[in-house]
Amino acid sequence: MNTTKSSKYFEEAKKHIPGGVNSPVRAFKSVGRDPLYIAKAKGAKIWDVDGNEFVDYIGSWGPMILGHAQVDVIKAIQKSAMRGTSFGAGNVKEIQLAKLIKKFVPSVEIVRMVNSGTEATMSAMRLARGFTNREKIIKFEGCYHGHGDSFLSKAGSGVATLGLPDSSGVTKSTAKDTLNAKFNNIESVYELIEQNKGEIAAVFIEPVAGNMGLVKADAEFLQKLRDVCTDEKIILIFDEVMTGFRLAKGGAQELYNIAPDLTTFGKIIGGGLPVGAYGGRGDIMEMIAPSGAVYQAGTLSGNPLAMTAGLETLKAIDEDEDFYSDLEESCEYLYDGIRHNLRKLGLNYTLNTCGSMFTLFFTEKKVTDFDSAKTSDTNKFAKYFNSMLESGVYLPPSQFEACFISAAHNKQNFDKTIKAHYEALKSL
Ligand SMILES: Cc1ncc(COP(=O)(O)O)c(C=O)c1O
Repeated sequence: MNTTKSSKYFEEAKKHIPGGVNSPVRAFKSVGRDPLYIAKAKGAKIWDVDGNEFVDYIGSWGPMILGHAQVDVIKAIQKSAMRGTSFGAGNVKEIQLAKLIKKFVPSVEIVRMVNSGTEATMSAMRLARGFTNREKIIKFEGCYHGHGDSFLSKAGSGVATLGLPDSSGVTKSTAKDTLNAKFNNIESVYELIEQNKGEIAAVFIEPVAGNMGLVKADAEFLQKLRDVCTDEKIILIFDEVMTGFRLAKGGAQELYNIAPDLTTFGKIIGGGLPVGAYGGRGDIMEMIAPSGAVYQAGTLSGNPLAMTAGLETLKAIDEDEDFYSDLEESCEYLYDGIRHNLRKLGLNYTLNTCGSMFTLFFTEKKVTDFDSAKTSDTNKFAKYFNSMLESGVYLPPSQFEACFISAAHNKQNFDKTIKAHYEALKSL
């Protein structure tokens, strides 16, 4: 595969942008090669600047559930752009999107739009602290909630990929208010709550974690987490930036039938444009300025262009009653192919799947938390990743990320992937 142009751009980018990228995992550091520069994307495919074609399983790290450059979304964005790209004032689309979110996710009574998942989680944290008058938060090892100071200890995603325990630049006084529990281990939560009685404002969790690779929460664990938060008057926050509108209309909370107090959104909600949101119980959300005393604002929040892209994406899902069942059925074809390859080659690697998200862990252990995810052989993953790329399959360049499938992926794409997957595993 010729990637000369991409490598040249990367050399140039490194002179002007930290590490050559605007988000760390894009650097392909852990898989030992230069990143690709993408020229265009359509449906399930992307093309790099050297003209190589790939079946894409990153999907912009989650947003592109309809596939790239979906016609209705693009047309709506074009139409909206012609009317002006930002007003810094109210617009009708933000109301329509808020209503649609509430329809999809019944635990959301009021919702505030922001510009990224990070902004959503940071704002939800301030709100929970304001509401409870408490300062500490609990999160789970291996979960990623964006790059807010409080969330960067034992975090997943790029932090895990780069092998960092935390981030420099976070003050000790901020770090001391973040407590880490173990995913799928309710005793570790009880212990922290007991040791910090009456001091915990919120528990943050990805109910289906996608940032240590894909790891589902156990249903009983999640219900116990709900119960203890209710008992202790702790705000339970589901971070559904990745899973919202991905796993079901109502996200992971619909799958588990558990209502959090607050939910954070991102990715799909912006249909490929920068949007985040946080919402939930009305009595909590009414504490946000200008209704209440918790301040949070944004020049571009509710931006009409971004609202349009999100709205059009959610509308397409809303109009198709079988959207998620069709998507899941389509994904099963790929998962069956992967499992078949593993059996044929006598390999016992762990494939975790949930709807249109999956991770193949290079470990024979069951992966249920960050510790078991870390038993994966990341050197093997890097070799596998490179082989897949050379065969025209674009995967997240890290063992600790989930792959995303879109409604545009078809059997032809999957057959190519299954074949590449077999060859990649065989060559390890
Ligand atoms: C669960 C979760 N929360 C928060 C974030 C941060 O979102 P953003 O990258 O839009 O700031 C991410 C990003 O991957 C995420 O997966």
